[in-house]
Amino acid sequence: MIHPPQRYIVTSALPYANGPLHIGHLTGAYLPADIFVRMLRMLDNDVAFICGSDEHGAAITIRALKDNSTPQAIIDKYHALFQETFLKAGISFDIYHRTSSPLHHETAQEFFRSLYAQGQFVEEESEQYYDQEAGKFLADRYIKGTCPKCSNPDAYGDQCERCGSSLSPLELINPVSTITGTKPELRKTKHWYLPLDKYESWLRTWVETGVLDGVEHHDPADWKTHVIGQCKSWLDGGLQPRAMTRDLDWGVDVPQEIPGSAGKKLYVWMDAPIGYVSATKQWAADNGKDWKAYWQDPESSLIHFIGKDNIVFHCLIFPAILKAHGQYNLPVNVPANQFLNLEEQKISTSRNWAIWVHEFLNENPDQTDALRYVLTYSPISFAMARCLSLMRIHRS
Ligand code: 2FM
Ligand code: ZN
Repeated sequence: MIHPPQRYIVTSALPYANGPLHIGHLTGAYLPADIFVRMLRMLDNDVAFICGSDEHGAAITIRALKDNSTPQAIIDKYHALFQETFLKAGISFDIYHRTSSPLHHETAQEFFRSLYAQGQFVEEESEQYYDQEAGKFLADRYIKGTCPKCSNPDAYGDQCERCGSSLSPLELINPVSTITGTKPELRKTKHWYLPLDKYESWLRTWVETGVLDGVEHHDPADWKTHVIGQCKSWLDGGLQPRAMTRDLDWGVDVPQEIPGSAGKKLYVWMDAPIGYVSATKQWAADNGKDWKAYWQDPESSLIHFIGKDNIVFHCLIFPAILKAHGQYNLPVNVPANQFLNLEEQKISTSRNWAIWVHEFLNENPDQTDALRYVLTYSPISFAMARCLSLMRIHRS
């Protein structure tokens, strides 16, 4: 059945500007979105295809520390590389923006202000690890220690990569700061929390039945089973209030008129997804369009293409932020993909087990369509990925 033309906003996950893109990224969040958007355009729909670099968060500052560089130099380098890579891969974004732009900072702050003014946040003081030598609070990723579940001595404050458990830094045994190698101390600090526990009931109804505020919003049968499954497992575990701010020196400032904002930045997940909105605003300003129609008109459809590690943020946390704001649509679908393996092994940046998209396209400049075809034809086929690997080895 041919549907009448409609308005769509299609987003692909904003990649962290802290390292190059590999074929797993391309296969998971960019190629499927590009193909979908090209089809929508062929059917005369009104589409805005949005992406950009995610330039805040511990991912960036950790890379800067490792490379003995600065966050600004790191984001500039990878933002430029991403722009070039996506162009060469034929990904037809309407805009490729960046979260370090002033427009993005303003937009993210406007969201925070709106939620704050509506009394949506709960202010709470808690104890967090502080590195006395570095003179700063430590982001979860900056703390290492022994995993309480599997005894891995190299677990991070947010996750153990050996057993896959989500952790909180306070659970780590013998925590150590990765900045100075010292034992951090616990200090009190105040943050603004989004009470996800209070939103749990409508989020569950929305995810499981597609009904929002008593009205049919989308058909859950259109959603991938593993996406709904992951959401259900979070919901069944009980949602907890989640801090929307951090004590950091790199990111979007909490608006300065808010009492207690000094030194506080927005949590990267209260920042990056709003990057979809700020990018749309920039694109609309550049092209004489009305950005609000794409995000706020109930007739518009919002669709997020992501990798599976981003499901909870796009299916629970960002929808909670959008609904708490009150003027925005929620996504009608979040097609998340599983991870691509390479010769049956997980692609790994740290073990350099990856095919870097920019390298492949530089070495095989006439093979863009072949790459796109192979990754599309069998996105999780190790055999196809192996062909690429062989092509690359053969040519280098
Ligand atoms: O996982 C990542 O690479 C994140 N930078 C994705 C962010 S998607 C969106 F929220 F911007
Ligand atoms: Zn573990």
